[in-house]
Amino acid sequence: MRTVSVELPTHRYPIHIGLAALAALPKMLGDSSSIAIIVDDAVLSSVGEAAAALARQVCSKVALFPLRSSEDAKSISTAEGVLRAMADTGHDRRCCVVAIGGGIVGDIGGFVAATYMRGLAWLQVPTTLLAMVDASVGGKTGVNLRMENGTLAKNMVGAFWQPRGVIADVSFLSTLPSRQISCGLAECVKHSMIADASLMQWISENSRSILAADPDILEVLVARNVAIKAAIVAQDETEQGSRALLNLGHTFGHAIESVWSAEVLHGEAVSIGLVAASAAAVSAGLREAECLDPLRSLLESLGLPTRLPRTIRARVLSNAMGLDKKRRGGSITLILPDGDGHARVVTQADFKNINAGWAAVGAEVD
Ligand SMILES: NC(=O)c1ccc[n+]([C@@H]2O[C@H](COP(=O)([O-])OP(=O)(O)OC[C@H]3O[C@@H](n4cnc5c(N)ncnc54)[C@H](O)[C@@H]3O)[C@@H](O)[C@H]2O)c1
Repeated sequence: MRTVSVELPTHRYPIHIGLAALAALPKMLGDSSSIAIIVDDAVLSSVGEAAAALARQVCSKVALFPLRSSEDAKSISTAEGVLRAMADTGHDRRCCVVAIGGGIVGDIGGFVAATYMRGLAWLQVPTTLLAMVDASVGGKTGVNLRMENGTLAKNMVGAFWQPRGVIADVSFLSTLPSRQISCGLAECVKHSMIADASLMQWISENSRSILAADPDILEVLVARNVAIKAAIVAQDETEQGSRALLNLGHTFGHAIESVWSAEVLHGEAVSIGLVAASAAAVSAGLREAECLDPLRSLLESLGLPTRLPRTIRARVLSNAMGLDKKRRGGSITLILPDGDGHARVVTQADFKNINAGWAAVGAEVD
């Protein structure tokens, strides 16, 4: 097992990574009056029950709150349902929340922990690759908001609320569908593009073992990615500056998700967004056009899309970007790669470059 420490100015916590890492749970629960396990339905009978049995070793009051995972269910009303059930069953301020599941249940569970009685201790137990390498690191919690016009504003309501610790047990990934493994890899490629070009090479060389869910390789993959994200978060916990680099591909990606929420998974939208951001960087003169083909080939070899599901006008997608929180004061802020393993924040991005990004992934620019 490996441990990466997240070193924040006021708080540090461990991320345990490896096979059988779940065994660390009882020690991490501390002296809690009760334990509220908010768990993804998909892993209730496997991870949820195992975690509950471990929790009962240290606390007599352990309750399971199963949730169905979908972007629509990542809502205030789902969070409210859990909050009400916790209040009904008498959980107090010394309760510890354990959020078990992918990024959706992690984000909801963290939001519940951040808001119940003005904040509870919580642990994250990610069970998807995306949640292990990204969503469980850094304390962003929250839910989506369905707007009056029907579009989904992603992560519009939430809080920064750091967990007491994270357990990334790679054995959980053995049941994860390959499409979901690929989604996690989109975030890994993103990390390599902003912070570590050698990681991209390593992913390319080990792609077969990763896609076959080899636990030893997955442990290295998760640890390398967690270390990158933890270092960025440590410098800028609440995203006032450099943490925004982690949004590479996401401003394009969130627009894609808001248009095709039923068809495109988050990691797939990020994959298309990484290509769009790279093409925008080429248009802005930050990168050579030659960077695009190797990126597309790598993403496609990892089972990820690099084009929009259907042709659509770029204007529709640019309008959808307006819902993204990275848009400030009428202009769009983009993260653009400007070298191997390096990216920069570009405020007031030029629409010519945004359109070049959309065109590169198959949108019609008029
Ligand atoms: N908080 C953050 O910093 C952060 C960062 C990145 C993404 N996110 C959020 O994460 C969400 C996406 O997370 P995700 O990709 O993990 O999706 P997800 O939570 O929907 O999980 C994907 C699917 O896998 C299932 N599943 C989970 N674990 C499983 C397992 N071990 N075996 C079999 N099936 C399993 C789930 O039920 C779901 O159907 C998005 O809502 C995104 O906004 C948050």
